[in-house]
Amino acid sequence: MHWTNVLTAAIVPLTGVRAAMLRFSCSQLVVDRLDPLVNPGQVPSPHLHQIVGGNSFNVTMDPNVNDISESSTCTSCQFTEDFSNYWTAVLFFKARNGTYKRVNTIGNGLGYSASNGGQTVYYISNGPVTAFKPGFRMVVGNPAFRTQAQARTNPALQFTCLASPMTRSGYRYDFPTDTCAGGIMVTVRFPTCWDGKNTDSPDHQSHVAYPVNRNCPSTHPIKIPEVFYETYWDTRPFNNKALWPADGSQPFVWSFGDKTGYGNHGDYIFGWKGDALQRAMDANCNSDLIQDRLNCPTLKSQSIVNANKCSIQRKVKEDLDGWLEELPGGGME
Ligand SMILES: *[C@@H]1O[C@H](CO)[C@@H](O)[C@H](O)[C@H]1NC(C)=O
Ligand SMILES: *[C@@H]1O[C@H](CO)[C@@H](O)[C@H](O)[C@H]1NC(C)=O
Repeated sequence: MHWTNVLTAAIVPLTGVRAAMLRFSCSQLVVDRLDPLVNPGQVPSPHLHQIVGGNSFNVTMDPNVNDISESSTCTSCQFTEDFSNYWTAVLFFKARNGTYKRVNTIGNGLGYSASNGGQTVYYISNGPVTAFKPGFRMVVGNPAFRTQAQARTNPALQFTCLASPMTRSGYRYDFPTDTCAGGIMVTVRFPTCWDGKNTDSPDHQSHVAYPVNRNCPSTHPIKIPEVFYETYWDTRPFNNKALWPADGSQPFVWSFGDKTGYGNHGDYIFGWKGDALQRAMDANCNSDLIQDRLNCPTLKSQSIVNANKCSIQRKVKEDLDGWLEELPGGGME
């Protein structure tokens, strides 16, 4: 197994303590300029996202109007009771001549390479946790961050230069400075403590918090599962340094115009059916992949091939595949 020390620490149970780790692939549902969490109703939203999960993803996702665990008819994730939506910004390559080309996602090398892009999602616990309530949503990170000090206020919004698809070392907070033979992995780790009351907050962040010395602070006393994304960006087609900036600097930029990488962020809208997530966490599921089947008997799952079939149409019509003069939406550099 190729785990980081961080992850190993997270899943080794203390004696008698419940620990769970769901890990599964979610194929690309759509790449679109929408953000129902931060910019609900805005078409197009300021920057481009790559989105996975249930097919109820929409311009506006008001939990009082629509329960996505009921209205979705498919999910691009392997666990078929999971209609949550998970999304991140999109990576672009900026060529020496100043034009931008969108970078695709590919399946995670830990056994999920059949996936049609998207991302790998984890739910991790060490000790009992309370699963999210219907309507729960949160954001981690901040697209306006441009310094390492800002990025480090979140413990794990990181980049890994993949020497191979299995690389799990050399985590960093900014874009790798050299070519990466296996692409670039971006990790997004959400806080694990909840205020116990609010399913959202005005900044979509302050209803959750990080533990202090492993304990949830009194303001946010409820332990929730750790939601964690790994996204593989296929930067391999852009490893020709003749196309990189003449000064040798790295050529990748987030869809919101960030060349540093410190603005890395992720969005989550909970959408598991009924008590499925709570059941899986209580059952200490450790859903390693066994020949394309996830090892968590209390949950229903589908093959990656089936998950690949769940996708939706883009709502914003714009060129996302050419060499673009500017980032979709113009970026906010
Ligand atoms: C998306 O929202 C629109 C209304 O804003 C609605 O007409 C449409 O059915 C929704 N689509 C999905 C897939 O929920
Ligand atoms: C810019 O560079 C890319 C990569 O070499 C090339 O495909 C594209 O045609 C160039 N565009 C312009 C306008 O020169």
